[in-house]
Amino acid sequence: MAFTSDTPLDPSLYSLDPAALEFFKKQTGITEEDELKHHILAVQAKAFAVAPYPCIYSFGFTRLRISRHPKYQSVLQLGRDCGSALLLDLGCCFGNDARKAVADGWPVTQVISTDIRQELWDLGHVLFRSTPTSFPSQFIAGDCLDPTFLSSEPVMSRSPPDLSSLTSLNDLHGKLTAIHASSIFHLFSAEEQASLVRAVASLLSPAPGSIIFGSHVGLPKQGTIREEVLGMTVEMYCYDPESWKKLWEDAGPFKTEAILKEVISPNGEIGWMMVWSATMSTKSNV
Ligand SMILES: C[S@@+](CC[C@H](N)C(=O)[O-])C[C@H]1O[C@@H](n2cnc3c(N)ncnc32)[C@H](O)[C@@H]1O
Repeated sequence: MAFTSDTPLDPSLYSLDPAALEFFKKQTGITEEDELKHHILAVQAKAFAVAPYPCIYSFGFTRLRISRHPKYQSVLQLGRDCGSALLLDLGCCFGNDARKAVADGWPVTQVISTDIRQELWDLGHVLFRSTPTSFPSQFIAGDCLDPTFLSSEPVMSRSPPDLSSLTSLNDLHGKLTAIHASSIFHLFSAEEQASLVRAVASLLSPAPGSIIFGSHVGLPKQGTIREEVLGMTVEMYCYDPESWKKLWEDAGPFKTEAILKEVISPNGEIGWMMVWSATMSTKSNV
């Protein structure tokens, strides 16, 4: 069973922590909390009508996952150290994490976001009351499992990419200093996740310190979970930290870290989020 656009939304799940409240007030220019809530609920409803995802239902886009990641501060430092560093957010939804990185100093024209749903990025402009002129960050729509969009067979070019004319992520092979990927890998089968690891690894710059980081559902022992999420049965393949690190280590000269964090869902069930990173350790041919 999957969510459909007819699933009634539950406004009681709306809750912004102090950091998210400050971020949304600043980004939207709405300082009155009831008005902000009303605005966020209205955009959530529009998004859910076209993309009835659990992450939209449960306000996942208000969680500022990127800045809660333990590598976030060092990622921002990478951006400051290298004037031309590029950051990619994979599976960006409304672009909330890209906007957080920009708010914290990453140059807006050096952030690229990608998602299979163009409408979600467009609704991000509605959510954050911006326009492509006021928030001139690149977005490229596409299916990250489609090799014509993202292949693990890199075509390397030495010239810097022209972000204004990107046609696919394949134009970015070997060019990215940092890649953020949260709550996306667990959407796919074990084989698709393994193949996506290789493809994403091929996008990373071979410079030591370049990093891929994120979080998604994990398990203490890899396998398939079937569980009730907000009343729906969801099936997911989850790697465990050791098998997840091995996937990255097989994909390049990465120093990897992965830990499980216990999370409690709104209905009180216990689960695990895997928080992980893969850092380029030496020059590579990836
Ligand atoms: C669970 S949401 C996570 C959004 C955001 N990264 C976060 O952590 O809040 C998953 C996102 O991945 C996108 N997505 C799903 N399948 C995809 C695919 N095959 N290629 C690219 N994006 C995909 C969805 O449209 C959605 O925006």
